[in-house]
Formats: sequence, structure tokens, C-alpha cells
Amino acid sequence: MAIKRIMVIGAGQMGSGIAQVCAMGGYQVILHDLQEAFVEKGLATITKNLARQVEKEKITAELRDATLSRLTPSTDLQNAADVDLVIEAAVENMEIKSKLFAELDQITPKHAILATNTSSLPITEIAAATKRPTQVIGMHFMNPVPVMKLVEIIRGLATADEVYVAIEEMAKSLGKTPVEVNDAPGFVSNRILLPMINEAIYALYEGVATKEAIDEVMKLGMNHPMGPLTLADFIGLDTCLYIMETLHEGFGDDKYRPCPLLRKYVKAGWYGKKSGRGFYEYN
Ligand code: CAA
Repeated sequence: MAIKRIMVIGAGQMGSGIAQVCAMGGYQVILHDLQEAFVEKGLATITKNLARQVEKEKITAELRDATLSRLTPSTDLQNAADVDLVIEAAVENMEIKSKLFAELDQITPKHAILATNTSSLPITEIAAATKRPTQVIGMHFMNPVPVMKLVEIIRGLATADEVYVAIEEMAKSLGKTPVEVNDAPGFVSNRILLPMINEAIYALYEGVATKEAIDEVMKLGMNHPMGPLTLADFIGLDTCLYIMETLHEGFGDDKYRPCPLLRKYVKAGWYGKKSGRGFYEYN
């Protein structure tokens, strides 16, 4: 199963990072989103990241130019007609993903693998929207994608072994470390990470300590690179709430109940770093 051409759907924080590492890895990448402005913003982020790496002498100007030359913008899903792999990093909504996968099933060549970067939604259910559930798989990158080594690779109920192997090899070719995980709410990463973040928000909500103190305890006491509240801002509080809701619904256990303070912030439009305000303020 030779993978050469890839479409990445969604030019946001995750999608642009995935497109960058795939293009750096030598793949031809179509970066797709609903509007030209979204794709341009994604490409601008990639250009800035690559420029910073050239400045720091981490990569050569030649690699930067070759990477950029492998990226093609798209707002027409029909551009997926000749790809070998789609990596979907669109909004975390089952209805939207199901519709998108049903369309991709019609558009992409028969051999193409359809991967999703969903952070917690069931791969099996996304696969059921297609007539090729054996070729649907989870490929969960971590944020910031160019830096983080892990890719959780999630097998849906019907995912074929050769599809798993092809994606595992592809992740390795990006310099990432793939880890095999079965399909369960939040997989492994977010099943463990998000309840910790939610608990940190409860600690703030209940006045156990200030936000700075909570973050300091986890940074200095547990050697985490970022405190949990800073990390929540970095992931996006809307995404954190969505994952907690998926865990709560998926397991039906109140230990996954999202903290009311998290709901309040999301209702206020305080989404974290991307909106300029979350637990902390950003310029
Ligand atoms: N994009 C690209 N590169 C970035 C970046 C970004 N957004 N942010 C930082 N970097 C790079 C820097 O350029 C730097 O690269 P070099 O070493 O090549 O110079 C490197 O990362 C380290 O950056 P800094 O020295 O500026 O800062 P730092 O040491 O604090 O590291 C960090 C930044 C890597 C983000 C670190 O704080 C960290 O590891 N934080 C935790 C990240 C984490 O937990 N991610 C998982 C989130 S959960 C998730 O993604 C799953 C989900 O579904 C929600």
C-alpha cells in the first residue's frame, strides 16, 4: 500500500501541524478546509514554523522550500479524487465527520485509507458511515504536532491489519512513534489526560488553590512541561469540554462529569490561547 499523496482536512491548529510534518516527510499534501481564508491561515502558520526552524538552524532553507512546494491549498473536496490517504482533522462533531467520511468514500480512489485525527470519537462509528470500514483508522497526533513524538493509532472494529501496518509505517516515516490502541472513548491519551485537567479545574473551582499554584504544583512536583490549566488553554477549553462530554457519555460514569467552571468558560467564549483568554490571558 504505497502512500504518496495525502489530503489533510482542516487547516486549524492540528491540521496545519499534520500537513507540515507530512510535507516535511516527503509526501505531496493537499491542505483542505471550507474557506480559502482558513487554508491561508494554516499555510501561514506552517511558513512561520519552518522559518523559525531555519533561523534556529534545525532545518535547511532547502528543506523549507521543498516542504512548502509539496503543499497544495484546497477548498474543493473533489481534490481528494487521486489521494492515497486522507487525514481528517476537522471539527469534533460526529454528524459532521460521518457526513464527511460518507462523501470521501464516494470521492477517493478505492484503495485510499481514510484516517481521522479525532481526539475521542469512536472510530468504529465514523467507519460505519463508509462502505470501506476496513480502510478507516484513527491517527491521533498530539499538539504541537511538529514537536510531539506520539501518534496514537486506533483500530476500529473492522480495521484491516494491512491498513494498520501501512499507517504505522507512515507514522514512522514522519519521525513519529506510533502506539497501537483499541477503540474506546478518549482512547488512552485523553482518557487519562482530560480527567486530570478536569480535576485541576475542580480544584480551582472549589478554591483549593490559585490557578498559578495548581500549575506550579504539577510542573515542579510532577515534572510536567506545563501545568494542567495552561495545558487546557493550549488544547482549547472547547475541545477539553467536548472530550469530557464524550468520556461522560461513553462510560456513563459521573467521575467524568465536566467541571461547571469549564462549561462556564466555554459559554463565555473563553476558549484558551486561540481566543486570547482562558484560565490565563494571551496577547
Ligand atoms: N508549533 C511548532 N513548534 C513549537 C510550537 C508550536 N506550536 N511550540 C513550541 N514549539 C517548539 C519550539 O520551536 C521549540 O523547538 P526547538 O527545540 O526545535 O527549538 C520546542 O518546541 C520547545 O519550545 P520552547 O522551548 O519554546 O518551549 P517549551 O520547552 O516550553 O516547549 C512545548 C513547548 C513542547 C509545547 C512543551 O511545553 C510541552 O511539551 N507541553 C505539553 C504539550 C502536551 O502535553 N501536548 C499534548 C496535548 S494533548 C493533545 O494534543 C491531545 C488531544 O487530543 C487534546
